[in-house]
Amino acid sequence: MTDLLSLRYPIVQGPFGGGPSTAALVSTVSNAGGLGSFGAQSLAPEAILPLVEEIRELTPHSFAINLWVSTHDVAEAEMTRERFDAAIQRLRPAYEASGVEPPPYPERFSATFEEQAEALIEASPPAFSFVYGIPSEGILRACRERGIVSIGAAATPAEALALDEAGVDAIVASGAEAGGHRVAFLDEAGRSLVGTIALVPTIVDRVRAPVIAAGGIADARGVVAALALGAEGAQLGTAFLATEESGAPPEQKELLLDGTAHRTELTRALTGRLARGIPNELLELANGADAIEPFPYQSYLLRPILQAARDQGRTDLAKLWCGQAAALLRHRRAADLVEALAAGVDELLGRAATTA
Ligand SMILES: Cc1cc2nc3c(=O)[nH]c(=O)nc-3n(C[C@H](O)[C@H](O)[C@H](O)COP(=O)(O)O)c2cc1C
Repeated sequence: MTDLLSLRYPIVQGPFGGGPSTAALVSTVSNAGGLGSFGAQSLAPEAILPLVEEIRELTPHSFAINLWVSTHDVAEAEMTRERFDAAIQRLRPAYEASGVEPPPYPERFSATFEEQAEALIEASPPAFSFVYGIPSEGILRACRERGIVSIGAAATPAEALALDEAGVDAIVASGAEAGGHRVAFLDEAGRSLVGTIALVPTIVDRVRAPVIAAGGIADARGVVAALALGAEGAQLGTAFLATEESGAPPEQKELLLDGTAHRTELTRALTGRLARGIPNELLELANGADAIEPFPYQSYLLRPILQAARDQGRTDLAKLWCGQAAALLRHRRAADLVEALAAGVDELLGRAATTA
């Protein structure tokens, strides 16, 4: 994997869709010897080329742009104005709690993957990582032709096999401990919850592509464990989310770093798709709304509440994605985290060799 992407360390900063990704975080990680990734899932296609250009100015090294292959759980035509208004009525207590107006019925809820992928191929970043499915043969071929390294994500061994058969260059094995969305695409996310320690070697035994372990890794011990399981790299999300270079609000970073983020829950209530985060008032209000709209509509419906929480520095009505290893977080600077991981891995492997 390090050869494939010319990396000094087999460490990937996981992408963050929907806001917390920054060009500063991506380039800091890539300049420190890892692979920075930008979550572009919520970006308009026309924003992708300027983003790639911006990151290229900040680092000469490899980085990845990440998209979601499936962008709509039901077609936009099914989200009629009547259905939209009914959803707003159900979420009324949540809007009132944060003092915001519900969002307007939009012309479009979200761009499609195909539109975004076309823009991404045009921009040709060094790597393209994706979740929630497998891009078409045409898109993967265009990546190969342009030298864009493709990185797919699997929540189950069956998904890893499908990605391998499609010929992707690397596979992220995403264990159920991970923060953010559960990226299963062949079966329901709730039935695809395999822990990292079981998932990684099961996938390694079955695929040709190099495997990157993700989920619950937050320090050098986790990276060594991933390597011992046969992975060629480790992807960390929550640990990078807490660094000053990430775009997460400061109060969310403090929450992650204060050692209290021990309890996380899986919920569909905040976006319509299953994701892991810290339970709070918003989750209770959204859970209490007795019907959850599919992705991306639930996400769109909650957007003004999340914006207000951000503006007001509140964590009770914010979306607090977080993995299970948050209590291990120590580093506030992304470069320090990469260095600590690299030095810690050397030390642990050296100690193991001495013992042996
Ligand atoms: C706030 C947040 C947003 C995320 N968004 C994405 C995304 O858009 N695409 C993706 O592939 N992974 C996404 N992830 C997953 C991370 O990239 C990474 O795989 C995961 O956080 C690893 O598990 P960990 O949190 O235990 O370190 C997100 C994670 C978090 C915490």
